Amino acid sequence: MFQNRITQLFGIDYPIIQAGMIWASGWKLAAAVSNAGGLGVIGAGSMYPEVLRDHIRKCRAATSKPFGVNIPLLYPDLDLHIQIIIDEQVPIVFTSAGNPRTWTKHFKDKGITVVHVVSSSKFAQKAQEAGCDAVVAEGFEAGGHNGREETTTLVLIPAVAEAVQIPVIAAGGIATGRQMLAVMTLGAEGVQMGSRFVACVEASSHESFKQAVIQAAEGDTRLSLKALTPVRLLRNHFAAQVQEAEARGASKEELTELLGRARAKRGMFEGDLEEGELEIGQVSALLRAIEPAAHIVETVWREFSEALNNPLQIR
Ligand SMILES: Cc1cc2nc3c(=O)[nH]c(=O)nc-3n(C[C@H](O)[C@H](O)[C@H](O)COP(=O)(O)O)c2cc1C
Repeated sequence: MFQNRITQLFGIDYPIIQAGMIWASGWKLAAAVSNAGGLGVIGAGSMYPEVLRDHIRKCRAATSKPFGVNIPLLYPDLDLHIQIIIDEQVPIVFTSAGNPRTWTKHFKDKGITVVHVVSSSKFAQKAQEAGCDAVVAEGFEAGGHNGREETTTLVLIPAVAEAVQIPVIAAGGIATGRQMLAVMTLGAEGVQMGSRFVACVEASSHESFKQAVIQAAEGDTRLSLKALTPVRLLRNHFAAQVQEAEARGASKEELTELLGRARAKRGMFEGDLEEGELEIGQVSALLRAIEPAAHIVETVWREFSEALNNPLQIR
């Protein structure tokens, strides 16, 4: 059996983590990934507090394995979410989009394992100082919200692995076992995959969005809205409007108005492929099929193991 600091920290079989994702990772996906030996994570960022509680309970009923909750620290109902995570005794929390100092001790005092998502070595060190158990280092290729520095995974992982002593989980542009081996040779001890798990049977995202993801080609995503919160978007009418506004130097206020409310829900959950916000990573260009979560975990792990035996693909 494979073991390293990440499998031991989470109590899982394979160091494969399914990213917590708004409008995509509810209890069904998280439970399926955990049952397959990876770590499933519920994405709390698109859930009202009571919805989150419901997902945690359903996840616990569907798996006896460990699972986590991802919580972006900018959420308006943050206090309520945190109380629910504690009340429901969620064992593992992934925090993102905020200062790790604010909440880490609070979680740790309750015996919860805390992982913070970073996009630079500097923030990885801050997460370590705040007492986090591990960091997710997320590169420029990643779907969803992204670092301003635009550091790619290939550069970020060795830099973060050198900067901190706590284990590093690589994210951004990883969807295959061979990519997993690449980042593990650079110092990561696990991978977090988002886009690959959007193209998944159990993901709660809209079927049309899933289809758009597997049809995406190289160059179809772009880091947008850098003046607000940088986010990687799939090309569509909304993304084109954002690009046009940014090119003529639109103000923050104008961009905020263009974004409006519920754009992400409209795109990823309701399937409005033109006017909705469609968050996905560059690696969507490699995805060809919508597959069950267990199949994804098994395939990535098999590919990783095979690649270990023949890393240079000598034919
Ligand atoms: C649809 C979508 C929604 C996401 N939502 C969140 C989120 O709510 N919180 C978060 O920390 N990261 C979020 N992310 C980023 C992922 O957690 C993950 O780090 C990223 O997808 C990894 O890159 P990849 O897409 O290349 O696998 C999201 C990503 C996607 C594609």
